[in-house]
Amino acid sequence: MSKLLEELASDDVELIRLEQIKVSTSYELLISPRLGKFARYKPAGVTIDTSRIDNHTLPARLYIRKEDSMNLLRAAQENYSGQLKQDLSSKDPEKIKTTFTTITAETLAEPRGATLEGLTRIIESMIESFLRDPKIMLNLINMASSDKYDTTIHCTNACILTLACCLRSQFPREITISAGKGAIVHDIGKTEEGFQQDLIHSESRLTDLQYEAMRSHTDRGYRVLSNSGITDGVITQAVYQHHEKLDGSGYPRGLSGTNVSIPGRVIALVNFYDRMTYGGVIVPRKGGGFFRRKHGKKEALQKIARDVAAGALDRDLFKEFIQLIRQ
Ligand SMILES: [Fe+2]
Ligand SMILES: [Fe+2]
Repeated sequence: MSKLLEELASDDVELIRLEQIKVSTSYELLISPRLGKFARYKPAGVTIDTSRIDNHTLPARLYIRKEDSMNLLRAAQENYSGQLKQDLSSKDPEKIKTTFTTITAETLAEPRGATLEGLTRIIESMIESFLRDPKIMLNLINMASSDKYDTTIHCTNACILTLACCLRSQFPREITISAGKGAIVHDIGKTEEGFQQDLIHSESRLTDLQYEAMRSHTDRGYRVLSNSGITDGVITQAVYQHHEKLDGSGYPRGLSGTNVSIPGRVIALVNFYDRMTYGGVIVPRKGGGFFRRKHGKKEALQKIARDVAAGALDRDLFKEFIQLIRQ
């Protein structure tokens, strides 16, 4: 067994993820043979053969010294940002979506200030290619997502739709970028440890208690961002306001009218659309009981139109959104 590094305690190290292992050449990696004790797994300068990730022949948990963690985070972002650029120039929607989903997963796993800062360049490259070739954007919007609902994919979809909606509405570039970041993390409260995952996949109507637990994700998400020191108001509003309705019937605060920010309104709209078309809606089953049914584009737009007519969702944004979806 490797020699224990006695100077290291749990507070001095961080667990790393697969995407980070791929770019860990310049860093020493550690294992934990005993609780709270660490030993060197590999010195800096040694590359881990990535086939070992696929073969599952790496230790289940690898750690890095805390002082190296920020650099490793940046190296990983650099890596998939480069990958995304390649995918965007290939114009292959499958490739773009796969890489972008990895980016979402990594952001949700480590929502630090630096992670969100690094997203700027990534979202900018998405915007550039959407403007250069709107077909790429439309292909991504129209692409079917995996059968099984997954929060990471939903947040990825929400980001693509948010960027498209902001571009169509000709919002300033800075707002568009922040709203895109906000969409990526809008449901981060659902990925938090204390959140009941079974609520997301429930096949029946939620009880009042369960609904209350479900609604907690906006507060949870807001807390995660504040604890990470994320202060960009557009991002925090996206997380905190994406279930608010303009008529005051939403949650968590029942805000109404102009108290709901523009990015909050955009994400409320695209979130609702993706929840219906990808997540599905609980509906009664003939003969009793309930089941989750995905809505088609048309049906989802009709439901949104009803909410717009009732004054719950933004009319001007919907006008642009409907054009976008019908293309
Ligand atoms: Fe949500
Ligand atoms: Fe959502």
